[in-house]
Amino acid sequence: MGYQEAYSKLEKYGQLHVLKYYDDLSGYEKEALLEQIANTDLEVLSQCQHKAELNPRGEITPIQVMQLSKIEEKRDEYVKIGLDAIKAGKVGAVLLAGGMGTRLGSDAPKGVYNIGLTKDVFIFQRLIENLMDVVRQADAWIPLYVMTSDKNHEATTTFFKEKDYFGYNPDYVTFFMQDMAPASDYDGKVYMEEKWKMSTSPNGNGGWFLSMMKWGVVDKIKEAGVEWLNVFAVDNVLQRIADPCFVGATIATDSAVGAKVVKKSAPDEKVGAICLEDGRPSIVEYYEMTEELMNATDEQGEPAYNFGVILNYLFREKDLEEIAARKLPLHIVEKKIPHLDENGMPVKPESPNGYKFEQLVLDMIHELDSCLPYEVVRNHEFAPIKNKTGIDSVESARKLCEENGIEL
Ligand code: UTP
Repeated sequence: MGYQEAYSKLEKYGQLHVLKYYDDLSGYEKEALLEQIANTDLEVLSQCQHKAELNPRGEITPIQVMQLSKIEEKRDEYVKIGLDAIKAGKVGAVLLAGGMGTRLGSDAPKGVYNIGLTKDVFIFQRLIENLMDVVRQADAWIPLYVMTSDKNHEATTTFFKEKDYFGYNPDYVTFFMQDMAPASDYDGKVYMEEKWKMSTSPNGNGGWFLSMMKWGVVDKIKEAGVEWLNVFAVDNVLQRIADPCFVGATIATDSAVGAKVVKKSAPDEKVGAICLEDGRPSIVEYYEMTEELMNATDEQGEPAYNFGVILNYLFREKDLEEIAARKLPLHIVEKKIPHLDENGMPVKPESPNGYKFEQLVLDMIHELDSCLPYEVVRNHEFAPIKNKTGIDSVESARKLCEENGIEL
């Protein structure tokens, strides 16, 4: 993109301050800035003016969940269907590792965090160990696709190489990068990270399939005959990946997506609750739970919105292609954004100073026609690491690992 074109684009979105230092930049820096302007979606910045009206919700009603007792009855049948699909190479796993993990407070990718006590146990290692259980059970490698971002790609790929992929077969591991979104002040003016670079932050975990398409990974998936993609978060160190029973149940019920859920620990627990919205599968976020929803009961007198998602979904690939072009809701999140002040000096804020713009994988569920909410035992499969201490922390995850016989 040439200077004039970049100027017009910035002018259109009220962002001309991005060129404040342009005349002082080197040739290389000028080029880098013009390229960034060309590749950045500035449209999102205008959305913070009407933040409150962004994502109106429809009518929320309960959804049927496949609970533990029902799963036990059918376990053998589902495991067989799942293992057959895995052996036939129809199941891939997608690790979402593009997040910044700011709450954990480490600059390194979250997956390289060491939760070991007497030996090294890295988060990535735990996930690979869990996946290896299924590889051994099925006697087949499961293709693993790892999403990184501009902020952690190099560090992530280097770490996997250094650690020999923790014994995984590198031929079955593919890395791809997600897109970045501009980060702005509270008026929607993009911050500058350098005189030649706008501040950006990963654009949320909702863009994973589009990024896979962009990187040519979807073509490879189709060539290889992968039909199902198990998407999972980096931070749940107990989760079962490509779990044969879950795969089998999703296939057997002919669902477009399976969603692992756990019984909520309290009505106001900070997890999204699976539900129907205007008759379609959906997730109501914890901050959207009204008193009425929290107290609602189903026909059996049980809490109606009692199952929380744990970011472990099994998507049918062909359905993802159908919904790929649809725009997902935009979420505007307050964040600490390092930037240059008016005098061009770097600032690392101690408290939130602006917005980042994200799309979320959970919003894909509402785009699909059918969803199987599939209950898993909470203490066996849900040990998220968001913080260093307290709830959903390194401490709580260590305790859960020990409870499950995992040596740390
Ligand atoms: P979180 O919502 O916990 O976000 O991500 P985060 O960025 O990792 O952590 P904080 O909020 O800054 O502390 C849930 C999952 O989605 C991935 C994360 O890597 C994690 O696996 N994610 C999140 C992405 O892949 N890309 C993103 O842009 C955001």
